[in-house]
Amino acid sequence: MKGEKMMKQNQQDTPLYTGLTRFSQQHPISFHVPGHKNGAIFPELAKNTFRDILSIDMTELTGLDDLHAPTGIIAEAEQLAAAFFAADRTFFLVGGSTVGNLAMILAVCSAGERIIVQRNSHKSIINGLELCGAVPVFIAPEYDQTAGRYTQPSLDTLRQALRKYPDAKGIVLTYPDYFGKAYKMEQMIQLAHTYDIPVLVDEAHGVHFSLGNPFPPSAARLGADMVVQSAHKMAPAMTMTAYLHITGKLVAKDRVAHYLQMLQSSSPSYPLMASLDIARSFLATFSQQDKDKVMTSVKQVRACFGQGNAWQLLPATKLDDPLKLTLHIKQGYTGFQVARYFEQSGIYPELATNTQVLFIHGLQPFGELEQLDNAIKHVNDQLKFVEKHATIEVVNQFPQKLDTLAIPYQQMHLHDIVHVSLHQAVDKVAAEAITPYPPGIPLIMMGERVTVEHIKQIKHLIKQGATFQHPDIINSICIFADE
Ligand SMILES: Cc1ncc(COP(=O)(O)O)c(C=O)c1O
Repeated sequence: MKGEKMMKQNQQDTPLYTGLTRFSQQHPISFHVPGHKNGAIFPELAKNTFRDILSIDMTELTGLDDLHAPTGIIAEAEQLAAAFFAADRTFFLVGGSTVGNLAMILAVCSAGERIIVQRNSHKSIINGLELCGAVPVFIAPEYDQTAGRYTQPSLDTLRQALRKYPDAKGIVLTYPDYFGKAYKMEQMIQLAHTYDIPVLVDEAHGVHFSLGNPFPPSAARLGADMVVQSAHKMAPAMTMTAYLHITGKLVAKDRVAHYLQMLQSSSPSYPLMASLDIARSFLATFSQQDKDKVMTSVKQVRACFGQGNAWQLLPATKLDDPLKLTLHIKQGYTGFQVARYFEQSGIYPELATNTQVLFIHGLQPFGELEQLDNAIKHVNDQLKFVEKHATIEVVNQFPQKLDTLAIPYQQMHLHDIVHVSLHQAVDKVAAEAITPYPPGIPLIMMGERVTVEHIKQIKHLIKQGATFQHPDIINSICIFADE
């Protein structure tokens, strides 16, 4: 009991933020970087906006510690985070979950080694595979009829993969998905551990799961070996902030530290690191009463969205993040149209796909119910005038339960690359990834054989207004010439 109380008091502390502000209040004279000299030199145009942040935008001065070899206030802040998130070691990240995912993969897998990866992973995972020259075995996700999209791979698919590739260096899973859907991952983790294979989880969207009920359990508490979380997505933290947690003995912490210092800036931002310290403290001191207030607000917002004519609000089960509200758009309309009409009313959703629109409730009661109500009326009105088109449901996107790349990463440099039209790319091997953004999951991966179905989907998505991270997707795509 006493220990618990002490732990709670501890968790209110923000050693990094407090140390930084104390240092700044001494008005230290800067003969060092950064060039804005604690905010003294800055264009007038933006000085007012940036002033407070610049006053703590420091560098590795005496007493301010060093992210890449922490022994002082950064180490203390990371230890508090590890205690709260139930990890043996937590690293603060200033390059988002993106850098965490890269480091996580590089730390367990070397060139030519096999790794089992959920196929519908974020591009940062896929980029990690390429960077280390891994030999990925992709495991296909299942199509969830209620959610209306692909979610996680089944336990059975993972079992097949492990029987066939017991030498895999790791298993990479995404939990929850972008829309907040979690699943029973503990059985997968237990299965992986019977092979002594570490489970690496991209929990970019689940930093708040450590708050406990009514949120799904966090991957770290379910026994995952390494977990990456964006602090900035669901906690009140600045963009680019993230955590990487390690638990157990299957992952070498030093290797993770090695890759993080390689991949991240040698001048990491102190405002971002302080924001990680503050976000952890915010979550750790979030009370039951705070949660109750948020959940009351979520109910009200859900009731509001229930008035829409063109969508069905997806139900929230125990394995759904209650802060994620997903509209499944009815046939004839697209998520892109619905999102656009919301934006016309000043309401900005997180993401739209052709069939869904995602809204994220914050960790405090929502204060603009009337504006939301009016926006929904506006969307309902506008959609009356829209010409309806059938939406193509994608139901066979991942036909193989286990799949590998047609050309391994380490052989790609042996092939010439050419641009061809979309229809000429069919049956060829893609020399670049084609990724609708958001959600940032490659539709086609580099090294994957292009199918008629892929091209159909790309054309359909373009027609419906999806955006791709690709300069000229309508006209051409890159393929390996001689394959
Ligand atoms: C599942 C998933 N993983 C990783 C990332 C990358 O996160 P970050 O923006 O923090 O780099 C994203 C970004 O949207 C994501 O959706």
